[in-house]
Amino acid sequence: MRSILVVNPKGGCGKTTISTNLASYYAVWGVKTVLVDFDPQQSCIQWLKVRNQAGKYEKIHGVSGLTGKLQVPEGVQRIVYDAPARSVTDKVVELMLRSEAVVIPVLPSPIDMRAAREFVDQLIRKGRLRQNPRLVGLVANRVREHTNIYGHLENFLIDAELPFVTTLRDTQNYVRAAERGVGIFEMGPAAVDKDLDQWRPLINWIEGKRVKTR
Ligand SMILES: Nc1ncnc2c1ncn2[C@@H]1O[C@H](COP(=O)(O)OP(=O)(O)O)[C@@H](O)[C@H]1O
Ligand SMILES: [Mg+2]
Repeated sequence: MRSILVVNPKGGCGKTTISTNLASYYAVWGVKTVLVDFDPQQSCIQWLKVRNQAGKYEKIHGVSGLTGKLQVPEGVQRIVYDAPARSVTDKVVELMLRSEAVVIPVLPSPIDMRAAREFVDQLIRKGRLRQNPRLVGLVANRVREHTNIYGHLENFLIDAELPFVTTLRDTQNYVRAAERGVGIFEMGPAAVDKDLDQWRPLINWIEGKRVKTR
């Protein structure tokens, strides 16, 4: 079993988008996956409800992280944690130490970059990342290329002493996918071609090329 934590205290940076799309990727490849939702708004659980109502997509098991002990069904191969939108609490450190990979989405805005810098520093300190090395990487999200701010974000990510894994563009594909309870891996390939390319480095990084990509 392999666990992936998607975390950043900043709301709206793309945690739920990345968590649901990653779970959708595994589902498409028949990997038995649990999505654990720590968001008080339970956005992943809502997404799963829409997904299940459609009745035609591969099953993803949803668990609320808000109530009691986490019950994970037998035979699960991947757990994706959509982390609480709080700072580096004991809970976040515990989840990080339980995970093989930690994905931190960052938006191209000065406020978000500053907040992410602080968060990463805390994570390194409180999670004792140097003694407990984990795969921790940054993902630039909602990027509009050729904008100045993207240039700043790129420099920030390169300087951040953590791997800068990939860039995800700003596209309605993610909004549409969220509405339908799917991920981009379950949409018409022509529309999401570019997005699939952008996901490949992230999947490869998480999986160490253990699971096939398209
Ligand atoms: N790459 C993207 N392109 C377009 N919209 C996006 C993208 N990533 C996230 N969004 C949208 O931005 C909003 C916030 O994203 P979300 O994943 O819910 O953030 P978080 O879980 O960190 O609060 C959602 O409406 C989502 O659909
Ligand atoms: Mg969320």
